[in-house]
Amino acid sequence: MCGIVGLTGKDIRVKELVKALKKLEYRGYDSAGIAFQDKENVYVKKEKGRILNLENMLGDINEKIVESCIAHTRWATHGEPSELNAHPHTDCTGKIAVVHNGIIENYMEIKHALIEKGHRFSSETDTEVIAHLIEEYYYGDLQKAVSHAILDLSGAYAIAVIHNDHPGEIIAARKGSPLVLGKNDDKAILASDVTPALKYTREMIFLEDGDIAHLSENKIEIFSVNGTRINRQSTLINWDEESAEKGGFEHFMLKEIFDEPQSIRSALMGKISDEKVVFKELDSISENISKTKKINVIACGTSYHAGLIFKKFIEDYANTEVEIDVASEFRYKNNIIDTDSIVIAISQSGETTDTLEGVRKAKSKGAKIIAITNIVGSTISREADAVIYLNAGLEIGVAATKTYVTQLTILYLLGTYIAALKNVSKDKLNKIILNMMDMPTVIENILSYAPDVCLQLAKEFYKYKHFMYIGRGYSYPSALEGALKLKEISYIHASAYQAGELKHGPIALLDDEFPVFAIVPDDELKKKTLSNVIETKARNAKIVGICTEGDKEVSKIINSRIEVPKTIDALYPLIMSPFLQLFAYYVSILRKYDPDKPRNLAKSVTVE
Ligand code: M6R
Repeated sequence: MCGIVGLTGKDIRVKELVKALKKLEYRGYDSAGIAFQDKENVYVKKEKGRILNLENMLGDINEKIVESCIAHTRWATHGEPSELNAHPHTDCTGKIAVVHNGIIENYMEIKHALIEKGHRFSSETDTEVIAHLIEEYYYGDLQKAVSHAILDLSGAYAIAVIHNDHPGEIIAARKGSPLVLGKNDDKAILASDVTPALKYTREMIFLEDGDIAHLSENKIEIFSVNGTRINRQSTLINWDEESAEKGGFEHFMLKEIFDEPQSIRSALMGKISDEKVVFKELDSISENISKTKKINVIACGTSYHAGLIFKKFIEDYANTEVEIDVASEFRYKNNIIDTDSIVIAISQSGETTDTLEGVRKAKSKGAKIIAITNIVGSTISREADAVIYLNAGLEIGVAATKTYVTQLTILYLLGTYIAALKNVSKDKLNKIILNMMDMPTVIENILSYAPDVCLQLAKEFYKYKHFMYIGRGYSYPSALEGALKLKEISYIHASAYQAGELKHGPIALLDDEFPVFAIVPDDELKKKTLSNVIETKARNAKIVGICTEGDKEVSKIINSRIEVPKTIDALYPLIMSPFLQLFAYYVSILRKYDPDKPRNLAKSVTVE
């Protein structure tokens, strides 16, 4: 996720755009850049790090009056965070400048074709191809050139373009990434969300996929790709600036749960082709993966729970042994690892010290390391042999939500990829692939009713002091993750057990003051789990549960329940995640805590 902003009109100073860009810093901050046009030329300035670094570097330029300008704050996806990879990107002539939020999936093919035609590239980004494509199609009409260029792109984009020979004009286009437009009597603005535009207007136009916008002074015109004029209604935005940053949600955590369909979509992008999973990132070690007899996984916290689901998935689907360790244990134990070993390290931040030390230890023994992370340029991404990015977008809430569901998405795909390398039947894998392709829509539907259901249940349960989460098979890691979410943001003591373990001790804890959160999807272990639930009921424990839609057997036993759509056994953890997260979220709210900033916790644990 990156942020883009553009401004044109009367008396614009560069610092005005920098200020607008700062409103988008939450979308990414590994580098920032600006392109502005005075009456003669387009100039580009960029800097690694936060927008403040750019502002300091600009110095006196901040005061310069310009005709139009565009800017970008980056969250790296293709190419490490660096000044060179920072936006805006330009064409060979330096006359065209482009900022982009999104991912161009076919940029490599386009890049090769353009290089053949003589274009010279200076960055590793997918975005730079857009500038060169526009150059290729430019014959004096910038809007036409942009319209032509976007027809060649597949993937997602929101772009803004300025050209030396078009002072005061900005051309913008979108497909799959957000873009908002607004204007007042003197100026027109575009941005990735409404926050920078609120200073100018409360009437916003939300660009739609396929739209091309032409901004000049105080004018906004919208066209289709073939040049037909389109009328888009504006929407009145009543948010203050703080709630606008959170997309109108009360907390980042809630916003990030609602980001999940889009994050899963981004994680899937480019990974499925011809009904097969592709991981180009793994090309260099695919031989090692096909030969290996055992895979090791290391991770902490929520990432560890995602790893547990992966372990079961790989054992079920690829018939390959997986050993998983919490990284803080792995780094101090005698690991049976050698040059044939594959170690998968999962870390959202890519900076967790224990996971990094585990990686270093495994590497010193000759293992090949696959890192799964959300942060391009993170330490783990630099030290691993191969890196798979989550592309979930920046997560601000300390509690992992959208990054957990994207970890699961990537891990299911990786499991399917490994199973294919191990010659598992296509039919078995196709089922997973087809279901994964539907996941963004399934989660979108779930989010249309889950908040109400979870709020009602939270009202019933938020006063309890303890919780016991239980599940079997794929639902046991879900129980662990549900309990972690609840304890970290609501400070209720919550533990998780394999449902079959209850009678070996934990059931002694239960009474009418100690409720049970039972995870009982309609999978191959349902009957076993249900009989454990009945045992807890006999101890007077109140039960809240998750089951499959329309499951009468479960609904007879559990009154306070959440129902999820039917899916393949292995995929239940993914579709259950929003419910577990939302239940914890509402309990935290009802207990009057701030779920975005849980006490004693940090987003990234860079100490031992
Ligand atoms: O960045 P990482 O994935 O390495 O972080 C690991 C844990 O610290 C993290 O998952 C933590 O448990 C979550 N914030 C919990 O929501």
